[in-house]
Formats: sequence, C-alpha cells, structure tokens
Amino acid sequence: MNPDLTSLTLEQKAALLSGRDFWSTKEIPEAGIPSIVLTDGPHGIRRQTGGSDHLGINAAEPSTCFPPAVAVGSSWDPEIARQVGAAVGREALAFGVSVVLGPGVNIKRSPLCGRNFEYYSEDPLLSGVLGAAHVAAMQEVGPGASVKHFAANNQEHERMRISSDVDERTLREIYLPAFERVVTEAQPATVMASYNKINGVYASQNPWLLTDVLRTEWGFAGAVVSDWGAVSDRVAAVAAGMDLEMPGSGGSTDQQIVDAVRSGRLDESVLDEAVRRVVQLARLPHTASGELDVEGHHALARTLAADSIVLLKNEQATLPLGAPSRIAVVGAFAVEPRFQGGGSSHINATRTDAALDSIREHAGARGIGVEYAPGFVLADAEGAEQHRREAVSVASGAGVAIVFAGLSDREESEGFDRTTLSLPGAQIAVIREVAAVAERTVVVLSNGGVVSLEGWHDEVDAIVEGWLLGQAGGSAIADVLFGVVNPSGHLAETIPLRLQDNPSWNNFPGEQGHVRYGEGVMVGYRHYETAAQPVRYPFGYGLSYTTFETGDLRVETTGSDTAAVTVTVTNTGAVAGKHVVQLYVSTTAGPVRRAARELRAFTKVRLEPGESRTVEFALDRRAFAYWDIESAGWVVPAGDYAIQIGEDVSRIVAEQTITLAGDIRVRPLTLESAVGEWFAHPVVGPVLMQGLSAGMTDEQRKHSEKNPDELKMVESMPMRQFLAFTGGAFPPEALEQLMQLSRASAVAV
Ligand code: BGC
Repeated sequence: MNPDLTSLTLEQKAALLSGRDFWSTKEIPEAGIPSIVLTDGPHGIRRQTGGSDHLGINAAEPSTCFPPAVAVGSSWDPEIARQVGAAVGREALAFGVSVVLGPGVNIKRSPLCGRNFEYYSEDPLLSGVLGAAHVAAMQEVGPGASVKHFAANNQEHERMRISSDVDERTLREIYLPAFERVVTEAQPATVMASYNKINGVYASQNPWLLTDVLRTEWGFAGAVVSDWGAVSDRVAAVAAGMDLEMPGSGGSTDQQIVDAVRSGRLDESVLDEAVRRVVQLARLPHTASGELDVEGHHALARTLAADSIVLLKNEQATLPLGAPSRIAVVGAFAVEPRFQGGGSSHINATRTDAALDSIREHAGARGIGVEYAPGFVLADAEGAEQHRREAVSVASGAGVAIVFAGLSDREESEGFDRTTLSLPGAQIAVIREVAAVAERTVVVLSNGGVVSLEGWHDEVDAIVEGWLLGQAGGSAIADVLFGVVNPSGHLAETIPLRLQDNPSWNNFPGEQGHVRYGEGVMVGYRHYETAAQPVRYPFGYGLSYTTFETGDLRVETTGSDTAAVTVTVTNTGAVAGKHVVQLYVSTTAGPVRRAARELRAFTKVRLEPGESRTVEFALDRRAFAYWDIESAGWVVPAGDYAIQIGEDVSRIVAEQTITLAGDIRVRPLTLESAVGEWFAHPVVGPVLMQGLSAGMTDEQRKHSEKNPDELKMVESMPMRQFLAFTGGAFPPEALEQLMQLSRASAVAV
C-alpha cells in the first residue's frame, strides 16, 4: 500500500522521525507505514532480542562474524567486500533486519584510533571502492546500508563532543571522498551522521554537510540517521537535513519539533521532506525471510579471511611450512582467537575456529607433530615468567615455532583510543626468547590497529599480519601457513617505525574540545612519502609465495584532464597467486602542495604460474585534481603528471609522464591582485610590459635589463600598495582599462 502522508497529523509526522525503541522505527498502520529494524553491522548481524545497547554488552542472536573492515581493507579486493556485503545482507533478511549499520569508511588518521578495526584504510580511494562494493552488494540482496560515521570521526577520545577542526581542502581530498563514492556509486539507503562536531558544528546538525554537500552536490536521495545518541538539538538537526533520530527519545524531542513548526522556527515543508525519506526507508524488506546458512557462511568467512592476510616477512622461504621436524605453537591467541573488535560491531559468532586446531589438522595430515604452550595469558601478568619458560622449552629444538601475538579487547576497542603501538611487554619477551631457541620463528599477529614490530622484527624469520579476521580466522591463518592459500593481502595502512613519525602525532587526540587536523592532506603514506620518512612497511606492501613482474606500461591522454593506462603483469613464480596492481599519480602541478604520490586506481588479478594479463585503467579528472579553495571546486592544473605503478607506495616499478592541458584558469584582476599576477596575466601582462617599457628612458631600460630580478621584490605586493609606494606608477584610468580587459578575458573553471 502506498502510504498516505497527507492524512498524518503534525504529531504523527514528528513521531515518525525518531525511533520507537533502541533498534526500530515507529509504525502507523492506518497510514500503511510499518516499523523497521536497523541494527549493527557491519561485518555480521547483531540482532538483540533481549537487552539492547550500542556497546556490544548484551547478548545478540548468533550470526556469522565475517572479516571486519581492517581485514577487507587489506584484501585490496572489492570482490571480498562485495561478498561480505551480500552475505551480511542475506543474514539480515533471515533476521528481518531492514537496515544494517555500516560499513564505516572513516579514514585511519592515527594508528591509535580505537576503532580502526572497523575502518578500511588510511587512503580514501581504497576505502571508498571497498565501501561502495559492500553497500551495492548488500542492497542488491535487499536490506539497506548505513554508511558511517559521516564525517571526520577519526578517533574515539571525546567522540561525542570533540570538534574535528579540518580545512576544506583536507575534508574534500581526504575525509569526504570515500563517502562521496559510496553515495554516488551505490546509493546507500541511509547515511549515519557522526557524534563529533566539524569545525564547531555537530555533524548531526550541520546543514553544509547534510544538505549542501551530501544532498545538493552528491545527490543523496536516502535518509540521514543519527549515530546512536548523536542529536543534541533535534530541531536544528531536522533543519540541517538529519531525518531519523536513533534511538528514540521516548517522545520528548518529537514534541520539540511540533513546537518548532507551530512557532515558525521550523518550516513544515522541511519536516515533510524528512518524513517522506523515513517513510521511503520503511519500504525496505522488513519481514524475516530465508534461513541462516550457518555452514555455508562459515566456509565463506574462511575464504574471505584467507585473502585478507598480509605476509610481511618471509626470510629463507620459511613459509609456506614444508616438512619441519616439529611445530611449536606458542601464544594464547592460537586457542582463544581474537577475531573481531569490541563495541557496537561485536557479533555473537555462530562458531569460532582456533588456529591451533587447524594447524594440528594440516600437520597431522603430513605426519608432523605439534606442541602448544600458551606463552602468556591475556588476563594474567603474574605467571608471565613461568609461561615464558614453558614456551621456550616447547620451542627448543622445534623445526618451526609459530608465536600468536596481538592485542586483546582490553587494549583496543570502540570507545577509547590506544596510547601506544607496542605489543604488551610479556608478548615481546616471549617472541624474543622463542626466536632465540627455535630453528625458525614465525609470528602471527591479531590486532585491529597497527602494532609496532620494533624490538623483535629482526629476530624472527617470518611475520604474518592477520589483523582481525572474523570467526573463521584461525583456519584461514593455517591455510596460509601451510600454503593451501597463497597470501595476497597488502597493507591498507602504513606500519611506521615510531609512533611519533605519524603525521597526526602532534595533533592527536586534541585538547580542550578540539582536534586540529594540522597535517592537512598529508595523512598516512602521503606524509611518509612526501617527507621521505622511513617506515617499517609502506602502504600497499605485501608478500606472496610467488613472484610477479610488471611491464609494458602505456599511458595516453584522452582529453585535457583524463588518461587511459594499460600495464601487463606476469606471474613469474611457480604457484598461482593474486597480485594487486597499484597505480599512483605524482605531480607538483598547481598552486598547492601535492603529496609525493597518491593512489588513483588499483585492481587485483589472479594469475597462474607463467600467466600474463594486461589490465586497463581509465583515469578520470579527479585522478589529477586538487580541491581549490579559491574557486571552491576541483581543479586540474596544467602540467606534468607521472603515472606510476607500484609494488607498494615506496617501490615504483614502472613510470610514464604525461602532460595535461588541464583547466584554463584566468582570474579577473583587481587592485588586490599582486603585481606578479598582473604581469603574469596572459592578456594584460604583455600590454603592461609594453606600456612600462615604452614609458622608460634608455637608461632606465638598460638598468632593468641588467637587473631582471628587481621585479621579484615587489611581485607579491598588491597593486593597491604598489601604486601607493610608487606615487602612482600607472595612471588610474589605464589600470581601470586593463582590469576591464582582464574581466573580458576571464575563464572560469
Ligand atoms: C556507534 C555506531 C553504531 C551504533 C549502534 C554507536 O555507538 O558509533 O557505529 O552503529 O552505536 O550500535
């Protein structure tokens, strides 16, 4: 039935714009408007039927915990994101959930953010492509998505009231593009407004963000929902474009809307628009359908997890494991896997795979013995020494020792940020002592945010970064260790040498209610590469059990601001594997500081041994553009652009430079324009030069020819001041004529 909105009273309309309870919206049966359920998300369904909360405290119905975003980010594979999105969508249908809250596409500004496990990357393109794939696939299945947390929510410290103070170029180039891509390519049913303020204005009541950018510029047609409890002024929020307040407030803030319409503070047409959008949301599937495919989804979770694992170090081909005499497994995470983060995304997994069981299976089939020692116990600092001794004795004489280290829920979670990158000291001690006695040592990491590898990196033979891999992570890790799966993950975030090297270091997590994004666009690898700051492992890095070669890069311009690229990759090793082709653009064109290089395209290809594939990229205008604050738009400056193919952001293996005509930007001159701008103007400059030279004596002309740099001293001086200092070097009428000429020849971008 088509809901009849004209029959709704003002009170009913206001009521529709807030939740009935923690997870559902209100229904108005007589108007044909059903109640729908919105719930977390993003890598599984957290359907609470008993106590409700947004911190993952009360139990939820069992569902599949797929790899969280930190893992999907490392897969660099939109197909993995699609499969997660589609599978979560199917589970949502089985639970009768209409909107799944997520994915989170916020940028990992600091490695300390407690919620980095729920975000994809420090790069907006990678985040946006993966987020859009997740949303599109889930919505094809039926339920709606809620891309979050919009926007500039890059830390947990003071998350409900901090002001993220970010300049507009940085917002446009770094913090908004992932949202923009998801909105324009995948049309999510909802966007979730974040808790924080942006430049002093709460995101949930920010008209620039929710209306000007999101709706007017990007064409968002869905509903904006508040993060849970993010609304402080309900009327201001509705006026700004925030439609649905979650959870419900028991009706108190609905009354504020009614009063605001009656008093004229809020236009009823604004309310009607918001109601229309919420009612449209209620058309999503809302009755349970289909069965939960527990076995099938667990198997899928295992495949997706394995493709997300990043092999960081592999000396002397320690991995895949051949036929070691004996395997020593050390570390509590091998039996108590940490596979998801704490907080609102916490899934009550249908089951979990422990790596130790899976290692025993693989090893058993090959006749290899396995011994285990906990090495450390997560909650127990006291027995540390005894655990260590036991681990050392198990590892002594073992062909390979595999140490499972990482962070526990106590060290990282939604709600707070970390203060260090280090692994707990007890774990570092175990790694070092085991490495001293075992023939070979492999470290497997389980962590949601980056951990430092310093202090033990050089003492071990192999490092497997497992991040948080979802409920089948344990078996996925064993698949990679034994070479059943060839690792193909790459870092979606830099692993620095020191926390202080991170560009946000001096401005994280802020003070006195403000966090200043002082590093501007130089986030993550953009800083490390531009400042030539050494790192432990760069963005995009990841090893494989095979080798790849890149060649035959061809680049052609396809217009003044676009290009077409082809490049050939070959699997030159002995086993099949997946390779990520990473395309970066590097330029110094334009009036703003550009990062040394930026990721502008990527694709993942699977190649059999000896197989070659030519991949194509079409680079659009945005691949070359920066956000120009003067014209409030994207500008492609004329100039040279290097197209670089990288094994990672620091290792460029093929490069070709093109010259783009770019945008022709000629601004009208005013008395505020600098003297240099007057002389550089393509039409006015030559006229001015001619006039100047004509009015000179021979002696003056000779002098100025001998001293060409004299003009430099006054180049940055506004013409108004120059005139005052020179007692009117140019007659006012002549200048007026020249300004008219510049207006006539102005070209906007
Ligand atoms: C989180 C959201 C989550 C919501 C509902 C909030 O605290 O920031 O990501 O979707 O709770 O649980």
